[in-house]
Amino acid sequence: MKQKAVFIKTFGCQMNEHDSEKIYRILRDHDYKFTENIDNADLVLLNTCSIREKAEHKVYSSLGRLRRLKDKNPKLIIGVGGCVAQQEGERLLHRVPYLDMVFGTHNIHKLPEFIHDVEQTGKRILETSLYDSVPSLGVCPNPREKEIKSYVTIMQGCDNYCSYCIVPYVRGREISRPSREILEEVRRLSEKGVKEVTLLGQNVNSYGRGIAGDMTFPQLLHSINEIDRIERIRFTTSHPKDLSPELISCFGQLDKLCEHIHLPVQSGSNLVLKAMNRRYTAEEYITKVERIRKACPKIGITSDIIVGFPGETEKDFEDTLKLIGIVKFNSLFSFKYSDRVETKASTLPEKVDDKVKGKRLSILQTYQKLFTLTKNRELEGKEEEILVEGPSKTDPTRLTGRTRSNKVVNFEGSSDLTGRIVPVMIKRAFLNSLEGEINTTYCS
Ligand code: SAH
Ligand code: SF4
Ligand code: F3S
Repeated sequence: MKQKAVFIKTFGCQMNEHDSEKIYRILRDHDYKFTENIDNADLVLLNTCSIREKAEHKVYSSLGRLRRLKDKNPKLIIGVGGCVAQQEGERLLHRVPYLDMVFGTHNIHKLPEFIHDVEQTGKRILETSLYDSVPSLGVCPNPREKEIKSYVTIMQGCDNYCSYCIVPYVRGREISRPSREILEEVRRLSEKGVKEVTLLGQNVNSYGRGIAGDMTFPQLLHSINEIDRIERIRFTTSHPKDLSPELISCFGQLDKLCEHIHLPVQSGSNLVLKAMNRRYTAEEYITKVERIRKACPKIGITSDIIVGFPGETEKDFEDTLKLIGIVKFNSLFSFKYSDRVETKASTLPEKVDDKVKGKRLSILQTYQKLFTLTKNRELEGKEEEILVEGPSKTDPTRLTGRTRSNKVVNFEGSSDLTGRIVPVMIKRAFLNSLEGEINTTYCS
């Protein structure tokens, strides 16, 4: 029988990217192959994000474009998973009559069953239950061939309820995965040739809360550091309120832990931080950054910022710029505040005008560019350890990889080096990447 082809389009964060990877691995074990050409697909899955209104709109426009495919091939199965599916559920089925499946964030392990049901009965599937113990947390079939980096889920959901955020509603309660399972998965990945693992959770710093007798996050990092053949460990995301001295010490102690931390600050105004329910002040955040830099001077610090939270004044915005000037992040992701259903912030009056949000965003991004470029230029003339990921997407004649501090570096070299850690001299720095030259002894 002809092997069927699945096309998966992923929106949103690394959790979603990893869920798509899990979906791919599950379906591969059910005789599906992956296709990058949507016209060849027997199954099209959209793994969606609802963090901002714009993200949700993208999903609907993608779905609109799928109608043509379904008209051409009525046997095509179309499914929507992820956070929009979780949030919208039945409304999605109503709104998109040619949609076959809507499955929520806790149900990806049931996909083969759903597909089978659609094929056999033609009935439409709706499954958005959230569970206290999520079977899909443990889904980790083997990675693709020649995988160098892999995500590893260590926890799911979030209990923090930042007032602007939809994640707790679409990903459910915070649940940590037993450390035994995580360590087993990392060992298995290492045996398959994976060199770098990124541990995933909405707030990895609170890993282990609620599991009696299990490990804290720093203890988990120590255990993973002991696993042979794993050469690099990363994690994301850290909530500043839970960043403990033990975790900070890990950066000085663990040779495999890469010198990078993504530590979203969201705002530099204490009034806004309070209204956001972030539970730290700008001063506390700055002190934590100083401590991390003291423990690990080479560390790259990146962050997220929201501009135009309800009630944000010019003075609040200036406080954010002030914080950016003090911390000097390596890079920043910044967003216009977007109202999300069910969240507390969406009920707040004093919405900031969209034009004002746009203006603030542009001022902030221009200001940050200065620091990003300066920080990148500090690497010029320095030798950096690069894990070679393969040919560059923009120029396949060159190789690409990342520094331990998570900067993309492009350089010339043989593709045989893929998967190796090589020393590269940084020649030129740009805003989003670095250009390097490999030490010639590694070129052969
Ligand atoms: N768990 C992560 C964040 C996940 S969402 C953490 O707490 O760090 C990624 C980023 O999207 C957030 O850090 C925030 O900056 C942004 N974001 C979340 N909700 C938003 C909203 N309603 N409007 C605009 N940006 C938002
Ligand atoms: Fe959202 Fe806050 Fe949880 Fe991050 S910590 S996912 S911003 S509620
Ligand atoms: Fe991630 Fe978007 Fe969901 S940021 S958790 S895919 S809402």
